[in-house]
Amino acid sequence: MVDLTTTYLGLQLKNPLVASPSPLSEKVENVRRMEEAGIAAVVMYSLFEEQIIHESLELDHFLNRGTESFAEALTYFPNIGRYSLAPDKYIETLQKTRQAVNIPVLGSLNGVSTGGWIEYAKKIQDAGADALELNLYYLPTDINLTCNQIEDNYLKLVSDVRAAVKIPLAVKLAPFITALPNFGRRLVDAGANGLVLFNRFYQPDLDLENLEVVPHLVLSNSDELRLPLRWIAILYGKLKVDFALTSGVHTAEDALKAIMAGANVAMTTSALLKRGTAAIPQILTGMEEWMVAHEYVSVTQMRGSMSQGAVAEPSAFERANYMKVLSSFNVDLI
Ligand SMILES: Cc1cc2nc3c(=O)[nH]c(=O)nc-3n(C[C@H](O)[C@H](O)[C@H](O)COP(=O)(O)O)c2cc1C
Repeated sequence: MVDLTTTYLGLQLKNPLVASPSPLSEKVENVRRMEEAGIAAVVMYSLFEEQIIHESLELDHFLNRGTESFAEALTYFPNIGRYSLAPDKYIETLQKTRQAVNIPVLGSLNGVSTGGWIEYAKKIQDAGADALELNLYYLPTDINLTCNQIEDNYLKLVSDVRAAVKIPLAVKLAPFITALPNFGRRLVDAGANGLVLFNRFYQPDLDLENLEVVPHLVLSNSDELRLPLRWIAILYGKLKVDFALTSGVHTAEDALKAIMAGANVAMTTSALLKRGTAAIPQILTGMEEWMVAHEYVSVTQMRGSMSQGAVAEPSAFERANYMKVLSSFNVDLI
C-alpha cells in the first residue's frame, strides 16, 4: 500500500487530486458523486466581482427609482451569461455542499479590484468554506497601465481579502507575469498560503461570416501540463507556500509529474468534463500502481523530487533548454 495523503493550505487530504472550479460544482449532487469517486477536495466555481457589483447596482436602482444612472452604469459590465448563479445563491450552494460532503470544500472569488465586493470573502468563510481561492483573472488592454500598477493592485486585493478572512487563502494566477518568482514572493508576503498555477485563458475566435468575435472554449489536454509544471519546479523550495497545479491534468502520469515538480495537489476540470467521475479512480489507481512499480511509498516522499533544485540538470528548466529543444528539431522539407 502506498500513502497518497497530502496537505494543502493546512488541510489534510486523502490524496492529491482536487476538482478545480467548473460548472460541475453548481450542483451539490455532482460534488457528492465526485466525493464517492475519490476526489480529495473540491474548489467551487467562482463568484465573480462583476456579479456582485451588478447586483448592488440593481439594488441601488430599486432604492433610487427614477435615476438615469442605472442603464448607463450597467453597460460597463459584460453580460455574464447563464453560467454563474447570483451571489446569494452561490453562498447557499456552498453551504449546502459543505453540509452534504465530508471532503474539504473551497470557495472561489474571481476579481481584480478592491472594494465592497470582497466582503463576500467573509460570507464564503461564514458559509463553511475550508479555504478560499482568489482568482486574479485580468487582461490588461490599456497601454498606459504598467506592470507595477497591475501587480500593486493585485497585492492590495490579496491583502484586503487576507484581512477579511481567517481561513487559508490561495491565489490563482495567470502565467503572463514578467517576473513571476518575485511576484510570487510578494503574494506570499501579502498573505497567500497557496499559489494555484495557472489560469487558462479562453481565447475568443473570429466568426468570418457574421463578423463577430465569438467565445471559444476548448478543453485542455495533457500537453498543457508543461507550463505550470515548469514554474512549480522552479518555484518549489524558493517560496514558503503550497502549490496547486491546474491545467492539463488528465492521467496518473500528469498527476505524478505535478507532485514531483513540487505541487501539493493536482487539480483537474477538463478530465472530469470529458470522462466524468470515472476519471478520478482512473487517475488515483494509476498513481498507486506506478508508485508501487517504482518503489515509492508516499506522495510526501515524491514531492519536489524533480523540482529545479533536485534534478541533475537545473538549467533544463531555463533558457538553455530552449536552445536545445530548437536544435533537436531536424526535419527535411516535404
Ligand atoms: C467550463 C469551465 C468553467 C470554469 N469555471 C471556472 C471558474 O469559475 N473559476 C475558476 O477559477 N476557474 C474556472 N475554470 C478553470 C478550471 O478550474 C481550470 O483551472 C482550467 O480548466 C484548467 O484545468 P484543466 O486543464 O484541468 O481543465 C473553468 C473551466 C471550464 C472548462
